[in-house]
Amino acid sequence: MSSTRARFEPDRLPAALIERFKRIRTRSTDLCRTLEPEDYVVQTMPSVSPTKWHLAHTTWFFEQFILRKQRPVYEIFNDSYHFLFNSYYYTAGEMYARARRGLLSRPTVKDILAYRDYVDERLVALMEKDNADWIQQRVELGLQHEQQHQELMLTDIKHVFSVNPLEPILVEADYSGRDAALPEMEFKRHAGGVGEIGAEGEEFCFDNETPRHRVLLNDFEIGDRLVSNGEFQQFIEDDGYRKPELWLSDGWAWVQSEQVNRPLYWNEDLTQAFTLIARSGSGRAGMSRELLRGRCLCPMGRRAPADRARMGNRRPTIGGAGQLRRERNAPSAAAGR
Ligand SMILES: [Fe+2]
Repeated sequence: MSSTRARFEPDRLPAALIERFKRIRTRSTDLCRTLEPEDYVVQTMPSVSPTKWHLAHTTWFFEQFILRKQRPVYEIFNDSYHFLFNSYYYTAGEMYARARRGLLSRPTVKDILAYRDYVDERLVALMEKDNADWIQQRVELGLQHEQQHQELMLTDIKHVFSVNPLEPILVEADYSGRDAALPEMEFKRHAGGVGEIGAEGEEFCFDNETPRHRVLLNDFEIGDRLVSNGEFQQFIEDDGYRKPELWLSDGWAWVQSEQVNRPLYWNEDLTQAFTLIARSGSGRAGMSRELLRGRCLCPMGRRAPADRARMGNRRPTIGGAGQLRRERNAPSAAAGR
């Protein structure tokens, strides 16, 4: 907290943080506004959590790591929720098995929304009367955690809907304004060198974003725009999933073992529709050629040939779980599924 704020608001956390807390918490429930109660409960694979679990778990985080410390003034909403909605915070105690979260019809969605309201009301009251640094830091951590789970809520409900033959839709979207033709993609060459990577400054970051450090970057080329669905369709039609020379070994092993021949959410009908449209220019109900061409999927880059050879079969790695860097005993908040 800045000294300026402390002078003018000595007894409360910064008003901006309180407002942000309300806005981000509301955003989570807003993401669910088109769901029916049954949608909140389904778990289609071990790494997918039901929507209502996400809503409860993010709430448990604030209760567990902030409000619980206010007992007995603060009364725990429901003692059993600690077991149900802890994710992998082993230091906080035992937890219900992740792969079985979809078996829980209770607590109900209504119960969990009441839990959210209960915790939010008491946390806002606490923020308005206590400006302790540790509370501010943990509120910030909880909000970052909440936003991670908002992303998970979307990816998880997408999978839930994808296995339903009724093809439920989370958000109706109008792409009619996105029909501008894409420019030809160009690959830009970038010279390598020693660069710096990692967080710096006082803004929030997780500890796996620090320390800032030097990295050696080889020369590389990268496309100057994202790849469109239409271009990815061309990759499929060109037998991209059957050409080992286009894949590193781990990727090729995955293609073969999983029998992959298209992106996860592209079903046979959709793939055929892409093909039909690409070849004849005809449309399909609700799906224009421009939509297919204009929606970008993912960035695509390619290494310079010499770097590609050096890279060989090396397996890429990703960072581990993050923790709040400025507080030694703070809870880890990399989105615990
Ligand atoms: Fe989490």
